[in-house]
Amino acid sequence: MYRSNTCGELRISDVGKKVTLAGWVQRSRKLGGMTFIDLRDRYGITQLVVEADADAALVETATALGREFVIQATGTVVERASKNSKIDTGDIEIRLEAINILNKSLTPPFTIEEQSDGGEDIRAKYRYLDLRRAPLKRALELRHRIAHEVRNFLDSKGFLEIETPYLIKSTPEGARDFVVPSRMNPGQFYALPQSPQTFKQLLMVAGYDRYFQIVRCFRDEDLRADRQPEFTQIDCEMSFVEQEDVLNLFEDMMRTLFKNVLDVNIANPIPRMSWYDAMDRYGSDKPDIRFGMEIHEITSLVQGHGFGVFDSVPYVGAIAVPGAAAYTRKQTDELTEWVKRPQVGAKGLVYIKLNEDGSTKSSVDKFYSEDELRKIAAGVEANTGDLILVLCGEKRKAQTQLGVLRVEMGGRLGLRDPKVFAPLWIVDFPLLEWSEEDGRFYAMHHPFTAPKPEHLDWFYSDKKEDLERVCANAYDFVLNGNELGGGSIRIHEAAVQERMFQVLGIGKEEAEYKFGFIINAFKFGAPPHGGLAFGFDRTCALFGGQETIRDYIAFPKNNQGRDVMIDAPSKIDDVQMDELFLASTVNEENA
Ligand code: AMO
Repeated sequence: MYRSNTCGELRISDVGKKVTLAGWVQRSRKLGGMTFIDLRDRYGITQLVVEADADAALVETATALGREFVIQATGTVVERASKNSKIDTGDIEIRLEAINILNKSLTPPFTIEEQSDGGEDIRAKYRYLDLRRAPLKRALELRHRIAHEVRNFLDSKGFLEIETPYLIKSTPEGARDFVVPSRMNPGQFYALPQSPQTFKQLLMVAGYDRYFQIVRCFRDEDLRADRQPEFTQIDCEMSFVEQEDVLNLFEDMMRTLFKNVLDVNIANPIPRMSWYDAMDRYGSDKPDIRFGMEIHEITSLVQGHGFGVFDSVPYVGAIAVPGAAAYTRKQTDELTEWVKRPQVGAKGLVYIKLNEDGSTKSSVDKFYSEDELRKIAAGVEANTGDLILVLCGEKRKAQTQLGVLRVEMGGRLGLRDPKVFAPLWIVDFPLLEWSEEDGRFYAMHHPFTAPKPEHLDWFYSDKKEDLERVCANAYDFVLNGNELGGGSIRIHEAAVQERMFQVLGIGKEEAEYKFGFIINAFKFGAPPHGGLAFGFDRTCALFGGQETIRDYIAFPKNNQGRDVMIDAPSKIDDVQMDELFLASTVNEENA
């Protein structure tokens, strides 16, 4: 037996017991003649002490211990003279009788404590050491717990967990595919699934009317804090359901998760907002509704006063930042530079201050009288002490920029408390998105999403403006400004699916080549069906109060999509290349 107890287990009630612990030496220090050792395992930290008058060999061993040595230590639980309320075992320590060094360790390249002194790169390279730290351990425990709760909940609702393949044909989720060459089929490639979308629909055709899977998905897209090239979804699909059934069931699931994992009661029912409202009021299809500061259109209030910038655009919008009228010239200049950054992309920023003394001050005083400024303020529902920020341009673009600015100001004012959870459903998405660049429509969600039945006339129209008006039975679950999940009611009739491909400019032959298997399957009695997928990593991170998902994944990739620990991706040798019928065109210029 290596140990009688873990390092997180012993309490004052255990005083007098003889115990054996095993773990890693976090720290060891000498004080007077005594040696104190912090012993760590997955469960916690326990203080070990070797008395000055202990056996000489024991003192010698204790003195020789280095950081991260693996030891087995036997002794008696005693009450500590100076207690440490920061750790669960802080009332006791173990007076040692024996130390057995199970393994030595090189000195770790950074401190393995609650807060580490190591930079991100070095910690990524030695991820297995970083994972010994308590914050990462807590993150992985949370992840486990949520997965467990999800399985319990869905099982209780009759869902079957069914695995789907990883080596497949491309799934159209809008990102690039990762591809895998086939040795046995020269010149041909599998794609790794961007999601199990087509397979879960085939499972519905097969009659498995409630499916779920906690499943890895792969997307070759630009990475951000909330995006990894391989990530995990809680992927679900149901037959014989309407949008209402799906929303109700998964709302129940999220409510249960919050209650069981965090003991938090989220809104009941969860509010719903149409995509159009979300864009108009928050400039985002994933609004953070933990705070107000809504966007107001003020086009008609500001045009016709001789200010060319506003007069020459189709849309002018504004937000009122509470209590920020005291912003100095330097601060408003800084904000102006901030909105001009490529990430926001505004051309400039106009401000109006509603000073505490009742006066107003704006960057466009020349064009608007005090009275007119007050009218604008009323239109933005601003109060005394507020700073009104105005952006203009093409409607959706300006709204999106205002949305980004709103979130930034919310952050600066401390209104984005990670312990407050404000979920909502975004519904009534447009079915299609026009790309000016490519001169064609794209599916806003994916090509299997059903148009709303009441919009079918527009769907079959040839006019661009009709098609732009078609809404989908699609929905997103949004939490604190993050898209946590999304899904839709699917097309289950072959004719509607064909029309969808036609609208998307996917010819019969291309559709047959890419999706022949699913088009065919739908000819054999596809039930009405729909579903959704939650980003599992994002769910874990937000439950943990973070927006970066990396810490909630045991072995994540960095922003360049690299695993710096195992050094992947990497070249493969010529034999492997030959076997796969591959030749590289990489040279010094394009490497
Ligand atoms: P969607 O593409 O919206 O829908 O993905 C569902 C959820 O997965 C998460 N997500 C990601 N998380 C981390 N890294 C990424 N690169 C990443 N990409 C997406 C998001 C997102 O809301 N098949 C459809 C679902 C359906 O229609 O049922 C799908 O995959 O939280």
